[in-house]
Amino acid sequence: TYVVTDACIRCKYTDCVEVCPVDCFYEGENMLVINPSECIDCGVCEPECPAEAILPDTENGLEQWLELNTKYSAEWPNLTSKKDAAPDADDFKDEEGKFEKYFS
Ligand code: SF4
Ligand code: F3S
Repeated sequence: TYVVTDACIRCKYTDCVEVCPVDCFYEGENMLVINPSECIDCGVCEPECPAEAILPDTENGLEQWLELNTKYSAEWPNLTSKKDAAPDADDFKDEEGKFEKYFS
């Protein structure tokens, strides 16, 4: 599966949603997550994200994000089409440590 990491927080560009063939993105207050049991591992969303927030869970150290994507995709509503990014998305695009600072 692919997972959304904290680089998405306060950006939510949603370009990922537009390309996903199985509509497996779910939307929270300030980030999106992927439902790992619905993701078919096609990989098309990864290069679409301007914040480079999407990674395959085969990369090391992504357990935290896999867990978060699994948990919140069961709680948050499905998002199936692109919407406006956060108004100040570009200001937060390259910021580090967004999970600790802003996750809600
Ligand atoms: Fe959707 Fe493919 Fe990305 Fe999985 S890898 S979330 S199926 S676009
Ligand atoms: Fe987030 Fe990137 Fe999608 S910022 S909403 S994962 S395009």
